[in-house]
Amino acid sequence: MTRHFLRDDDLGPAEQREVLSLAASLKQAPYDSQSLAGPRTVATIYDKPTLRTQASFAAGIAELGGNPMMVDGSLAGIGKRESVADVARVLGRQASVIVWRTYAQAALDEMAEHAGVPVINALTDEFHPCQLLADLLTIRERKGELAGLTVAFIGDGACNMGNSWLLAGATAGLHVRIAAPEGHQPEEQYVVRAREIGEQTGATAEVMTDPKEAVGGADVVVTDTWVSMGKEEESADRLAAFADYTVTVDLMSHAAPDAIVMHCLPAYRGKEIDSEVLDGPQSVVWDEAENRRHAQKAIITWLLRDAAERAEVPQ
Ligand code: NVA
Repeated sequence: MTRHFLRDDDLGPAEQREVLSLAASLKQAPYDSQSLAGPRTVATIYDKPTLRTQASFAAGIAELGGNPMMVDGSLAGIGKRESVADVARVLGRQASVIVWRTYAQAALDEMAEHAGVPVINALTDEFHPCQLLADLLTIRERKGELAGLTVAFIGDGACNMGNSWLLAGATAGLHVRIAAPEGHQPEEQYVVRAREIGEQTGATAEVMTDPKEAVGGADVVVTDTWVSMGKEEESADRLAAFADYTVTVDLMSHAAPDAIVMHCLPAYRGKEIDSEVLDGPQSVVWDEAENRRHAQKAIITWLLRDAAERAEVPQ
């Protein structure tokens, strides 16, 4: 069975630690792993806007000795001109890995089912697991051990980032608190899954409405846009619903004094986060953006290594 990275809990706790350690060592020595030497091709497809993801995958794939192949999703007409399964079968014959940013998680699952090569989630409506690897790497750099730290996620708890914080945070042994208004809280299934993972790792997952309660004593404060890609028509309602959820200097005064602030970007200053915080001394957002490259190189290398090891051992 080919392994994929479709959602955060596709990596178990020990595997997540292994990938993060690999990312840290690749950051120290960026050209030491040539896991795509050949060059082998990685197909990258973006159905939604992108800056960090496209740039960090292209640069990272090149650093691994590989060839980043852009597939124009609108020309390919995935799921319209040709079924997802047929696209998967074709790309799987050209590329060693497929990276896809799209809407429905179900489409990504279908790609993985038929590709025959590892598929990586570059963001769906449900999850953004590559961002979480970069974020966990960033926290490790600042705080050392991840397990036992408290993370407060403020804002749209029902978006891909909220879900991914629940699952990846639980895998890492974090205490994840999500503060979101009613109607924008994570689906129960993700909270249940996080708690199930927490039984092994010591993690906890809590959902609440009060941002101050979530931020109280937290080591890490996280936010994200209130209007995720694809939700633009709901902008006015969302701006009203989230009006009390801005990460301000005042809100940060409730966190631990050495707390760090994270945002996957793009950021909307004055909405989910104030400029003083985003551009202030506690912000690590540019490290997060850089760490996308190191984390993604690690997951590509890890998945290909896993595939090679499986090929050597008769199943
Ligand atoms: N929740 C955001 C993340 C952007 C990287 C979105 O889906 O637009």
